[in-house]
Amino acid sequence: MTDIPTLPLAHDRIPVVGLGTYGLFKERGVEQVATAIRAGYRLLDTAQGYGNEAEVAAGMRESGVPREELLVTTKLPNDDHGYDETLASFDRSQAALGLDVVDLYLIHWPMPEVGRFVESWTAMIRLRDEGRIRAIGVSNFSPEQIDRLERETGELPALNQVELHVGLDQAALRRYHEDKGIVTESYSPLKHGSALAKDPVVARIAAAHGVGWNQVVLRWNLQLGTVVIPRSTDPGRQASNLAVTGFELTDDEMAAISALRL
Ligand SMILES: NC(=O)c1ccc[n+]([C@@H]2O[C@H](COP(=O)([O-])OP(=O)(O)OC[C@H]3O[C@@H](n4cnc5c(N)ncnc54)[C@H](OP(=O)(O)O)[C@@H]3O)[C@@H](O)[C@H]2O)c1
Repeated sequence: MTDIPTLPLAHDRIPVVGLGTYGLFKERGVEQVATAIRAGYRLLDTAQGYGNEAEVAAGMRESGVPREELLVTTKLPNDDHGYDETLASFDRSQAALGLDVVDLYLIHWPMPEVGRFVESWTAMIRLRDEGRIRAIGVSNFSPEQIDRLERETGELPALNQVELHVGLDQAALRRYHEDKGIVTESYSPLKHGSALAKDPVVARIAAAHGVGWNQVVLRWNLQLGTVVIPRSTDPGRQASNLAVTGFELTDDEMAAISALRL
């Protein structure tokens, strides 16, 4: 592993910074994933719904970094909820990735209108127990939906991947996760790279530490105790997003960033 810190995840550890891969496609996508891994990324976030599981896997192979040093996440699509449907869908993801074992498999959305996420969860427990998945989790789930998984199957997710960034700190959900021992993973941690880049409070704190606005907002996320998966197609921005462990925000700086309403 690199020197990126990790958090406990089920019986394993998860790096606190990973690469979001939505939109990384075709030969360029393979190269972008391989470049990110060579720069130090060890956690990769894809989904069947992104249509790039094969590219992510090819990037992993092309990077030259041993498979066992990498942790890949993929996700069950919304159209595949149900017990048998989940087993078949996982077969497709596993074939696209070309991997014997998927490190982390998530239900992408709870789809309450479909009402079958517990069936999917039961299938995922089976796949995990068969050794085809190392850890299972969810994405975009509420505490009530997670409670239902626990009540009906006795199994909590190892992780919940949710939208979390400056202006959306998910405080109540994070407290719930902490009580239950669930890892909080932040998607869109840069808020799509827009308004935060121009915010004067973020700019002042960035200047004080001699870092970029992106590094300040990712650091804020990490100090809340979350895992972040920023996406970038650019090698320089990928490297900058990874270099967020060499400085620390003060309590006052954390509070000033948390107070921003963008
Ligand atoms: N579970 C879910 O439902 C869900 C939903 C959304 C996203 N996700 C996951 O979370 C990942 C990240 O979320 P996201 O892609 O929505 O948003 P994000 O990571 O917050 O922002 C990505 C945008 O920021 C730009 N960017 C990245 N680094 C930058 C930097 N250092 N300076 C300036 N701009 C920068 C990128 O452009 P460039 O490429 O040009 O650098 C891209 O346009 C996704 O790729 C996906 O894996 C999951």
